[in-house]
Formats: sequence, structure tokens, C-alpha cells
Amino acid sequence: MDRESNLNHWESLGKAFGKNLQATTKCTTIKLLEIDAFADKITRYVSAPNPVVLEIGCGNGFNGFALLERFLNLRYIGVDFSANMIEAACAIAQQDYSPEIAARAAFGVQDAREIASPFFNTNAGPFHIGEALKEVLRTQSVDVVMTDRMLINLSSAQEQLQVMSNMIKCLNSDGIFLMLENDAHSHQTLNQTRKVLGMEPRPVASYNIFIDHDQVIAPFMDKMSLIESQDVSAIHDLILYAVAPSVQGGQINYDSELMKNLTRAIIELNATPTVKIDGFGQNRLWVWKKHPKN
Ligand SMILES: C[S@@+](CC[C@H](N)C(=O)[O-])C[C@H]1O[C@@H](n2cnc3c(N)ncnc32)[C@H](O)[C@@H]1O
Repeated sequence: MDRESNLNHWESLGKAFGKNLQATTKCTTIKLLEIDAFADKITRYVSAPNPVVLEIGCGNGFNGFALLERFLNLRYIGVDFSANMIEAACAIAQQDYSPEIAARAAFGVQDAREIASPFFNTNAGPFHIGEALKEVLRTQSVDVVMTDRMLINLSSAQEQLQVMSNMIKCLNSDGIFLMLENDAHSHQTLNQTRKVLGMEPRPVASYNIFIDHDQVIAPFMDKMSLIESQDVSAIHDLILYAVAPSVQGGQINYDSELMKNLTRAIIELNATPTVKIDGFGQNRLWVWKKHPKN
């Protein structure tokens, strides 16, 4: 999809849903898992005492507000090419959060394709700059760059790679890039599961290109080291998009009690160091082999 059509798509969602999470996703539980995963990586990999996080394609700011609440020393800059999304984010900062949180937040309109510098242009549409961010906006360098389902909106794998390469220019020398995007390969696996359960594949939306390992991840390894990659929504998506619809006449129910309980359990288990999130079933098969000497 070309840039204008994609922008119109997000502008209309921003206008229709404003401060509501539905501006950026139909699924409230996935947002909880995404925030939990970002918070975990910031806790583990960011050592700066007052880290600055730049989210590119921040929508109406849900990730930012959650991180600002969770990390009292964190400062957050959100940019998006949709002025309606940024208007909603500014309204949330000013109306729904304390002055202390608003002081650690900044929002402005910016296209990811032009991100390297400045973070955003204060002449281009709505913006909010909290007191605690003013100096950072002069220095134009941050501890964390993050994206959440933004790169998938670009028009080709080449453009995804190009934008990733540009956006990391904003990072401090020991900064990290948290890239939470839809993966083409695991999406295919999910569709294979649907097929096994007698359902049609779920197509990728016309305005998205999911991340391809060979075209995007592998070449980007020349630019940055991959420290880890976590399949943030594996069990969640297996139940939401395949197992549950297989007994619901194909219907996907985003807000069921089942999904809420599953998500609560995943988050609590993620926080328990001794539990592995894939160690669920009661039945395990151990295969033993005799030592050669016995
Ligand atoms: C699925 S929403 C996710 C929003 C936010 N990251 C979150 O997780 O809550 C994708 C966002 O990316 C933004 N976006 C898409 N293409 C962009 C671009 N080229 N530059 C900046 N923002 C973009 C859209 O306007 C939209 O707000």
C-alpha cells in the first residue's frame, strides 16, 4: 500500500477512536503482553539512570503511558505520522495523567522515513513536550528506540530495512533497539494450525507487510547484534486465532474471559523466573539411552 493510503487508514482510525486503544488494535490482551515484554527488556538491558525511550509510530501513546507509570525515572518520546493519533496522545497526557507523568512525555508528528533528526518538527501538527524532555530534544539522542507494529506498514522489505537503519542513528552508543513487529514465518505457522483445525488461513491485512527473516532480519545483523528474540504472543495467538475459533464457528472473540485469564496467567508466569512459558502440559516424554559402558 502506498504512503498516502496507509496514512489515511491510520488518520481515520485515529479520528474514529481518539484516546481509545482501538485506534491501534482490536485486541486489548495483546497490548498487555506487548507492554509486559517491553518492560522486561528495559529492566534487563537498559542501565542508564534516567533512560530516554523513543517510540516511532507510537499511535495514541498506550505503550508510552504504561512505561512511564511503571518506570518512574523513564522519559518517553512518541512520534507518529498520523496527526490524529498524536492529537489523541497529547490529550491523554494533558487530561488523563498527572503533571509528573506529562512532564516525562513528549509527542509530535513525524514520518518514520524521515526520522534520523529531528525527532519531530514542532511546526508540523500537534505536539506536547514535557519539561523533563526539553534538553533531550536538543541533543537528539536516546537510550532506546522502539517500534510496535509500525514497520509492517511500510511499502516493502527494502523500505523496512532502510527505515530501521535510519532510526538507529538516534541511539546513544550503548543504546538498544526494541523492535516488536509481526513475523511472517510465525504467522504462516499459525495459518498451518488453522488449516489442521479446518479453517481458512488469515490473510495479512492489505496495508501490512510482515517481517521477512531473509530480507530484513538477516541483513540488519550487519548493523546491530541480535541479543535475543522473544515470540511475545505465541500461546495467546494460538488460542485466539486458531483453537478458540475452531470451536466458535470461526469467530475470533478478542475480549473473552478466556483470553483475559490466559493473558493474566502468561504475564504472571513470565514474572516467575523458575517457570518456563513453554512448560505447560502434564505429559512429557523422556527418551533415555544406555551409557555405552553398561
Ligand atoms: C498498529 S499501530 C501501533 C501503535 C503503537 N505502536 C502501539 O503499539 O500502540 C501502528 C502505528 O504506526 C503508525 N505509522 C505507520 N506508518 C508510519 C510511518 N511511516 N511513520 C510514522 N508512523 C507510522 C500509524 O499511524 C499507527 O499509529
